[in-house]
Amino acid sequence: MRVLVAGREGQVARALVARLVPDGHVVTALEPPELDLTDRAGIAAVVERAAPDLVVNAAAYTAVDRAEDQPDLAQAVNCTGAAWLAEAAAARGAPFVHFSTDYVFDGLKGAPYAETDAPNPAGVYGATKEAGERAVLAANPRSAVIRTAWVCSPDGANFVKTMLRLAKEREEIRVVADQHGAPTFAADLADAVARMAPRLLAAKAGDEAFGLFHLSGTPHTTWHGFTAEILKQAARRGHPAPRLVAITTDEYPTKARRPPDGRLNCGKILRVHGVAAADWRVSLGRCLDVLVGPVKENER
Ligand SMILES: NC(=O)c1ccc[n+]([C@@H]2O[C@H](COP(=O)([O-])OP(=O)(O)OC[C@H]3O[C@@H](n4cnc5c(N)ncnc54)[C@H](OP(=O)(O)O)[C@@H]3O)[C@@H](O)[C@H]2O)c1
Repeated sequence: MRVLVAGREGQVARALVARLVPDGHVVTALEPPELDLTDRAGIAAVVERAAPDLVVNAAAYTAVDRAEDQPDLAQAVNCTGAAWLAEAAAARGAPFVHFSTDYVFDGLKGAPYAETDAPNPAGVYGATKEAGERAVLAANPRSAVIRTAWVCSPDGANFVKTMLRLAKEREEIRVVADQHGAPTFAADLADAVARMAPRLLAAKAGDEAFGLFHLSGTPHTTWHGFTAEILKQAARRGHPAPRLVAITTDEYPTKARRPPDGRLNCGKILRVHGVAAADWRVSLGRCLDVLVGPVKENER
């Protein structure tokens, strides 16, 4: 299979390359200046040249707080550009995989969100991603849009790496305990795409293989609960373990409002594609093996 991945250095893009190449797939992963989602003609030319069987968009404007000040750029990348890439894939007859976010929801439902729940984004990033979902599905009916959350990996900037750095610098870490969701490791998202690919390639427009899907890790937790597990598993690898204090969102103000409860119900992707939510605690262990090192002999 020939796969074109938009994004190269991003967390999900790198995980896709790592997952697909060993299986013998030919993967072209590009980001600016080779592939810029704000350049429609450039996108079409790249897709034409790469001649992909499958196009995966792992590129996005992901700076949630900065997006509040750069709504036009966020919209250009997350909506308009994503749709141009989907359109170019459609012109080649290639299915399209796109990632979206739990931030399309306001987080007030009080239960895990299903794909049928109405979005109501609280900030610019979520609004541009929500518009992007609709634009992508309209531009290429053979699109699978995977909403995910709290993405982490050994690469790029993410919550795990921030907590490991703070654990070295501080005696106490204060983390919000009233925002609910689930960490998702990029490797598990890449694995999902690899498993979905054969069906996406074979299915016709209108098949239930396409459309919206939710996929995060399991079980649900809070940022505080996630941090407790990071610190516990890191300590078993010899990393410093500072005191962890639970705080409220009000005590940690950010420019963009986050959904207080963005838990995703991942039942549909399991039913349709046979992809089960991965236990993020296991994936975290693999991530820490890379970032910190193996579990110490006396901690096994
Ligand atoms: N990270 C999360 O917590 C999270 C949560 C839910 C959903 N998601 C979604 O999951 C997907 C993958 O996220 P990720 O964490 O892998 O993101 P990431 O690590 O921030 O990577 C995004 C990549 O997109 C590239 N990019 C930015 N603007 C571009 C443009 N105009 N044209 C082409 N490439 C561009 C970035 O390049 P530069 O670095 O050079 O700008 C970066 O390599 C995204 O759709 C995101 O919205 C992420």
